[in-house]
Amino acid sequence: MKRNVILGMLASTAIFMSCSHDKVTASYQVIPLPQEITAKDGNGAFALTDRTVITYPSSNEALKSNAELLAGYISQLTGHKLKVTDTPSDENAIVLLDNLDASSPEAYTLDVTPTLITINGTTAAGNFYGIQTLRKSIPEKGDHDVEFPAVNISDSPRFAYRGAMLDVSRHFFPVDSVKKFIDMLALHNINRFHWHLSEDQGWRIEIKSRPRLAEIASKRKGTCVSHDFSTSDSIPYGGFYTQDEAREIVKYASDRHITVIPEIDMPGHMVAALSAYPELGCTGGPYEVWQRWGVSEDLLCAGNDKAYEFIDDVLSEIVDIFPSEYIHVGGDECPKVRWENCPKCQAKIRELRLKDDAKGSAEQKLQSYFMHHASDFLTSRGRKMIGWDETLEGGLAPGAIVMSWRGEEGAKEAARQGHDAIMTPTGYMYFDYYQTLDREGEPDAIGGYVPVEKVYSFNPTPDDMTDEEKKHILGVQANLWTEYIPEYSQVEYMELPRMAALAEVQWTDPSKKDYKNFTHRVPQLAEHYKANGYRYATHIFNVNGILTPNPETGTIDAVFSTVDDAPVYYTLDGSEPNVSSTLYEKPVQLTQSGTIKAVA
Ligand code: ACM
Ligand code: ZN
Repeated sequence: MKRNVILGMLASTAIFMSCSHDKVTASYQVIPLPQEITAKDGNGAFALTDRTVITYPSSNEALKSNAELLAGYISQLTGHKLKVTDTPSDENAIVLLDNLDASSPEAYTLDVTPTLITINGTTAAGNFYGIQTLRKSIPEKGDHDVEFPAVNISDSPRFAYRGAMLDVSRHFFPVDSVKKFIDMLALHNINRFHWHLSEDQGWRIEIKSRPRLAEIASKRKGTCVSHDFSTSDSIPYGGFYTQDEAREIVKYASDRHITVIPEIDMPGHMVAALSAYPELGCTGGPYEVWQRWGVSEDLLCAGNDKAYEFIDDVLSEIVDIFPSEYIHVGGDECPKVRWENCPKCQAKIRELRLKDDAKGSAEQKLQSYFMHHASDFLTSRGRKMIGWDETLEGGLAPGAIVMSWRGEEGAKEAARQGHDAIMTPTGYMYFDYYQTLDREGEPDAIGGYVPVEKVYSFNPTPDDMTDEEKKHILGVQANLWTEYIPEYSQVEYMELPRMAALAEVQWTDPSKKDYKNFTHRVPQLAEHYKANGYRYATHIFNVNGILTPNPETGTIDAVFSTVDDAPVYYTLDGSEPNVSSTLYEKPVQLTQSGTIKAVA
């Protein structure tokens, strides 16, 4: 009896405690914006409390893993530790399913009623994107319950390939940082992690048959200081991932429905490897792992059989570690001066009867032969080659995919030739470029200027492509080269919030894209950046302009921005701004969703 009273008291205390929580209301205006959001006005809301459970179908390991990730997100954002179970529940549950009938394997529906939230994906990946939308609809982190207004969301991505590249060779980031990077991709619905693992300045992946790559090629004696390539800080620098660590990353990414695409850049960007195996270069060396940035004239010797054996050995371990259908083999930035002067390369050119003609020089065709070798090897292992757009020169290998970085022309040409292509042009997708013209106070960067709005404006299927050619555009990727990025927190700073704009280019139908509307949705996503402890750039919140107090309320609700010299007006609720009653001018800062604060 007494025991029952105490238990009853405990139970009512628990109810009292859970009811006493603050409550926030979800907003489905997330990034990337879902394709269809149908509010069920007047149909109430689902209240997420600490008694909500997450269910998955029994024996469905992929949805169980999704459920656990969702529980982690909710715990982070609300403090509630929800039970994850395969016991079905018909109330106060978030129900995860993967039997949606839709053409995209990454489609999902998110249905909210007062009793259930149901996320149904065509696959576990589709389900995961529904989870991301649900997570991002929670407006901020805090100890609170969440009210989800009744809604039906139906969503699927525009592009199947949604990529982000991280260069870990110029600077090395440990496994935990790479996992943080992967988490950041998941938040933005990105599904391909292009991992740039080899460079002149460092080889970063253990290859068991070539132990000197880890021993020698992963280390450099120093690093040039800022943009002066003649200097060195003389501080030894290095790092590599063991194969076990790389497999751990592959699994971590796969749990988040992200495929890791490794890149071994060849035949150029190979100085680090040549320092370990100098006999593979045209001159025989000696070589030293580069301490400076730029493009080296030293390449693998394309006239030496041992160079082809090296590539086969490396790629055979790479395909063993990485299950990705696509393997990236670089091919960019290969000056041909060494090959022009190398007796072995010239003998190979004669043997292959390669000639200078309108399609390219004999040396470009030698590079094409080299890339065909890598492609044939990958094909023999059931994989496909991705190469940078230089791989068009001298002729593409059958089935090779082109990653277009020197503008969009490479992708267009690949598509004209019937090859698939990925858009990653410098002018829109190089996140190592500055994100503001005001460089004072910015971390040192490589140069250039790619603001958020420019990223957002990118059209991956240019109007001068035919419909047939457009089908060859697999998707879009942003690249982060890390010459000037020594710390992981700077990786986040360069990525965010440009990655938000990227996400909408990759995911959202162009008819639904609207930059002004996007800027209204960034503050809620920034709450998630804060919840994750991400360092992010705030330039788009610092709109220098005219504050326009609302004549009725006296509060400020419109901001005039001078982004790219084009007048843009923002209002907090997306309504037409009242710009006639300009009373005063001050720099302003949009600090969080729904608030514009004047700063001195
Ligand atoms: C590249 O930026 N060199 C692909
Ligand atoms: Zn050579």
